[in-house]
Amino acid sequence: MSLTPDFHSGINHGVAPVTYGQGDRPPRGDYGSARADYTCEQDWAAYTEAEHDLYRRLHERQSAQLPGLACEEFIAAVGELGAPDRIPRFDALSERLYRATRWEVVAVPGLIPEEAFFRLLANRRFPVTGWLRRPEEFDYVVEPDVFHDLFGHVPLLFNPVFADYMQAYGAGGLKASRLEACEYLARLYWYTVEFGLIATPAGLRAYGAGILSSAGELRYSVTSPQPRRIGFDLERMMRTRYKIDTYQAAYFVIDSFDQLFDATAPDFTPVYRRVAEGGELAPDSLLPGDRVY
Ligand code: PHE
Ligand code: FE
Repeated sequence: MSLTPDFHSGINHGVAPVTYGQGDRPPRGDYGSARADYTCEQDWAAYTEAEHDLYRRLHERQSAQLPGLACEEFIAAVGELGAPDRIPRFDALSERLYRATRWEVVAVPGLIPEEAFFRLLANRRFPVTGWLRRPEEFDYVVEPDVFHDLFGHVPLLFNPVFADYMQAYGAGGLKASRLEACEYLARLYWYTVEFGLIATPAGLRAYGAGILSSAGELRYSVTSPQPRRIGFDLERMMRTRYKIDTYQAAYFVIDSFDQLFDATAPDFTPVYRRVAEGGELAPDSLLPGDRVY
């Protein structure tokens, strides 16, 4: 195992911490014990009773509002996380997940660099943050914590089509790095994996992890008259900026996970070129061609 210097402390072990947004937020999580691929041990025994209890309350609040707001595929799989009163053990969860879709979850100290993230996804390994938010962050936390990563992301990894989409996304990320198109691909992730809505016979439902793990945005995204809801359009999404610390001004709606997988299967090289030429759009913009819900 090769180790790279910890740039912040000067100590020659672990990996450099990663921060969110414009970098003025201090890093959260212990990067000193991470491997070169940014994975680390979960250290389950280190969680306190207070943390298990906070996880239990987060799980309870979120589970209660899933019916009518979350997609059926998510509701069907959320029980796979295990007993809702403890922070799950990643190794036991990985065993169940591997049997279902050949994915596993791996612990990471917190946010990791894009390239490391893409590489893990391309190998069907989903990175889950070890730390849990503080009690005062019960209602809102900007950085992803263990609750967001597990509750928000892992249930849909039990769905075969979505699971394959996530792997394809990782492979596509490694390619986007070479094409210097990571910003465009990040927007696709944001508007699908994190904040995606899906149209079902029963109405709009959430499948994005950022929504599903949010106390307030789950209901807001599906039912509020305020935000825009626009039909899936790959290049439109790649042009649309987003905010990381407020409810979204726009959500994009897919018809099915098959649509998502199929629409993202072609080579993105010409797509990135057109997106660069098309220029950026504000989060709340509306174009003549938009299919509005
Ligand atoms: N088709 C994309 C490419 O060629 C890869 C990709 C697939 C990206 C799925 C995102 C999601 O770059
Ligand atoms: Fe996330």
